[in-house]
Amino acid sequence: MTEHGLDDRRVLFASDNYAGVHPAVLEALAEANGGWAPAYGDDRWTAALRARLGDLFGAADAFPVFNGTGGNVTALATVAHPWEAVVCPDTAHINVDECGAPERFAGCKLVDVPAADGKLTPEQLADAVVGIGDQHHVQARVVSISQSTELGTVYTAAEIGALADAAHHSGLLLHVDGARLANAAVSLGAGLREITTDAGVDVLTLGGTKSGLLGGEAVLFLRPGLAAAYPFVRKQGTQLASKMRFVSAQLLCLFGGDLWRETAGHANAMARRLAAGIDGVPGLRLAYPVQANAVFAALPAAVIERLLRDYRFYAWDDQAGVVRWMCSWQTTPADVDEFAAAVRDAAEAG
Ligand SMILES: Cc1ncc(COP(=O)(O)O)c(C=O)c1O
Repeated sequence: MTEHGLDDRRVLFASDNYAGVHPAVLEALAEANGGWAPAYGDDRWTAALRARLGDLFGAADAFPVFNGTGGNVTALATVAHPWEAVVCPDTAHINVDECGAPERFAGCKLVDVPAADGKLTPEQLADAVVGIGDQHHVQARVVSISQSTELGTVYTAAEIGALADAAHHSGLLLHVDGARLANAAVSLGAGLREITTDAGVDVLTLGGTKSGLLGGEAVLFLRPGLAAAYPFVRKQGTQLASKMRFVSAQLLCLFGGDLWRETAGHANAMARRLAAGIDGVPGLRLAYPVQANAVFAALPAAVIERLLRDYRFYAWDDQAGVVRWMCSWQTTPADVDEFAAAVRDAAEAG
């Protein structure tokens, strides 16, 4: 602890949200700060962003928002009525990390399904869609998955396509929480459109903050006819930025060129380096495959306790002794090597 009572442990692997703002994004913000511009999205940065995301994702209707929770709940509230349900993996951010915001704001029941490796399958979806047409039963309307998942795993384009087919077959829409969509795309060596629009995704919350923005995400409707109510839902949902040019300028900086690929690719590479660096550490095993920018490890409790004296990170499953280490665009190879050595030392100390 510092003299002010603050936690002064190293925070390098706690979360990709602990990283700073990418210098190119700060430059874009400074450029957008030159003078006056119309508010609430009538500015040239927002127009350019919407055109760019339309190209990138294929005729998408895109709306900048402040944060991921707001993007998710406003997206879901737009496409589902309160008597309808959202089917999602039990590990989904909307299910465990949004303080019940989807239930409160969209008014929908979340039907959470236990999902191995954080991924939902078409078979599980079919089992969860029951009681359709029965006035006593909530009506499943949306399936929501995260890409990459909260467990650092990645759906292939074929897996997303199969889920989309199953969802559409049952009259549901497919929403993707893409807080880390960039990490998934780079991991798959795929384009953003290939794993969303072309795979059958209907609605997307596109992440920016974890890829190096100060703050900003976007909600994309990837099929015609879904977006009409969104401007009103976004305003009611407090996600309409008055000085929207600054949110849009950041997203444009990230997705206007290849910065998204660069930042996500680096974060993923650092996670792979960490996984390799802790390979063979006694008593340690990877809890999930390392496919994006997260490393989940199972360790003896005493080793976790020892590491937590110097490093701040999150326990994922206390009972199973699973912890989460996240990498970001800002993580350096030296950070990784230092931490891998610390893990090894802590484990060898018994
Ligand atoms: C999978 C996922 N979705 C959405 C979010 C967005 O959350 P926030 O509202 O903090 O921007 C996060 C952030 O941790 C996340 O991990």
